[in-house]
Amino acid sequence: TTAILLAAALGYACGSIPFGLLLTRIAGMGDVRKIGSGNIGATNVLRTGNKGLAAATLLLDLAKGFVPVMLAGRLFAMPGAMPEAAIGPVPVAALFAVLGHCFPVWLGFRGGKGVATNAGVSFGLAWPIGLAYALVWLGILGLTRISSLAGMSAVCAAAIVAAVMGYLSFVPALALIAVLVLWLHRANIRRLAAGTEPKVGSGK
Ligand code: G3P
Repeated sequence: TTAILLAAALGYACGSIPFGLLLTRIAGMGDVRKIGSGNIGATNVLRTGNKGLAAATLLLDLAKGFVPVMLAGRLFAMPGAMPEAAIGPVPVAALFAVLGHCFPVWLGFRGGKGVATNAGVSFGLAWPIGLAYALVWLGILGLTRISSLAGMSAVCAAAIVAAVMGYLSFVPALALIAVLVLWLHRANIRRLAAGTEPKVGSGK
C-alpha cells in the first residue's frame, strides 16, 4: 500500500507541473490560458505562433508522464510488491500523472487535456502501447490536421491495444484515462460535430 501511495504522489507531482504555462510565461508571452482554446497543452501553445515553445511543451509534457511510470517500476520493484499489477505502483503512477496534468492543484485543478502526458505514460508502460499511440496520433494528425481528434483517437487506441496485446493489468488505468480525456475534450467534440474545430497551422 505504501508503494502505491508513493507511486500516486510521484505521478501527481510530475504530472501537475504545467509546462505549457511556465514556458510561455518565462518567454514573456503572457498567459496561454487567455488565448485560443484556453488550454495549457502544446496545441494551444502553438497558437501563440511559437513553434519552439510548442515543441518544448510537447516534449516536457510527454516526459512528465514517462518519467514517473519508469521510476515507479524501478523504485517500487521491492520484494512482495507487484509494481505492474492492475492496482500496482506502475499503473497507479500512470493514472496519477495524467490526473496531475488534468487537475493540477497549483492551477486550482484546472489543467490540460492529457494527450501528451498520456503519450509519455503509454511509452513508459510498454513500448508497443507507446508505438500504437504515436502511430495513431501522428497518422490522424497527418490525415486531418485536427489535434483533438488525433489525440482522442490515440488515447482510445492505447487502451484497446493494451487489451488486445495482453497487457491486461494496464487496461483499467488506460481505460479510465481514455474516459477522462474524452470528457475533457467535450468542447472539442462539440466543435468537431459542428465542423468548427480548428486545424493545426490554421493560426486559429
Ligand atoms: O491535447 C489537447 C488537444 O487535444 C486539443 O487542444 O487547445 O485544441 O483544445 P485544444
